Amino acid sequence: MKNLHYTLITGASSGIGKALAKKCASSNMNLILVALPDSGLEAYSQQLKMEYGVQVQTIVLNLADPEASIAIYETSRKENWHVNMLINNVGLGNVGAFEECSYNAIQYQMMLNMNVMVGLTRLFLRQIKESRNGYILNVSSIAGMFPLPYKSIYSATKSFVYSFSRSLYFELENDQVMVSCLCPGPTATNDQVQETNRNLGWKARYFTKSAKEVAEIAIDKMLQRKFLIIPGWENKIMALAGKIVPEAILLRYLGKTFRKNAPSTNKAASMENLPVKESQNQVLSSSPIANKIKSY
Ligand SMILES: NC(=O)c1ccc[n+]([C@@H]2O[C@H](COP(=O)([O-])OP(=O)(O)OC[C@H]3O[C@@H](n4cnc5c(N)ncnc54)[C@H](OP(=O)(O)O)[C@@H]3O)[C@@H](O)[C@H]2O)c1
Repeated sequence: MKNLHYTLITGASSGIGKALAKKCASSNMNLILVALPDSGLEAYSQQLKMEYGVQVQTIVLNLADPEASIAIYETSRKENWHVNMLINNVGLGNVGAFEECSYNAIQYQMMLNMNVMVGLTRLFLRQIKESRNGYILNVSSIAGMFPLPYKSIYSATKSFVYSFSRSLYFELENDQVMVSCLCPGPTATNDQVQETNRNLGWKARYFTKSAKEVAEIAIDKMLQRKFLIIPGWENKIMALAGKIVPEAILLRYLGKTFRKNAPSTNKAASMENLPVKESQNQVLSSSPIANKIKSY
């Protein structure tokens, strides 16, 4: 019988999201892929359609726009695309002292890492429940398992993802909706992430997985109805260390490690040096968030 349901994946044009899309298509899932304009999403969707014979729809917009979740929901309702699986993958990391991060960059990061996930989950929940075979996969990080100086917003947003997912798992347990939380360690994706991983030395290099490895583990474990998905034994040990090592020791060690990586003031995180392509800057600079407070 033809599969009429869709898997919705945010941030699907590169990195882990792109690899998740391939893994899902190869598992015979129809897809709705979301990313920024000019991200090559259309070409990628054609490639997946040809290769796997599944339906692939695309929605291009800036997910940091407060209206983005509603726009995605309205489009899929209008088009009659029924979602039974939601993969909240989009997210943005950075390294830098909190004081050096611009106000706009912080708002942008919090929007992408938390608000879109909560918004889409709320809007699509009824459809997911009604499918009677529903899945929600939220992408957190090992960095969400402990406080991380010089990555303070990132680790706090990823703790939010974990905590939200855990509670939702409990709430939906009897509704045939499986909620899973993916916590990857270092993964070779965009240039900024790869540079940070290189600077962290041999340990991070040794722990680094490919996006393909992470995506394959994620989808297999999610379908096996596992809540917490940590790819690789090294990362599982890191997560365990976060639970058993006294916080003061952990903070000192991680603080020292990441301080070395924090960019100097003039290179610190700002809207200008977020990892986006030149052609996408116009979309981002017209985002309500970027426009609101320019002078901070
Ligand atoms: N990489 C790691 O080491 C690592 C480790 C742990 C957890 N994670 C988590 O895994 C997830 C994916 O990370 P990644 O490293 O694969 O990221 P990535 O390579 O930077 O890819 C991010 C994806 O999101 C899209 N995107 C970014 N900003 C957007 C916006 N404003 N609106 C719409 N789409 C947007 C990007 O589109 P473009 O292609 O157009 O830029 C891209 O498809 C994130 O939640 C991240 O926190 C990553």
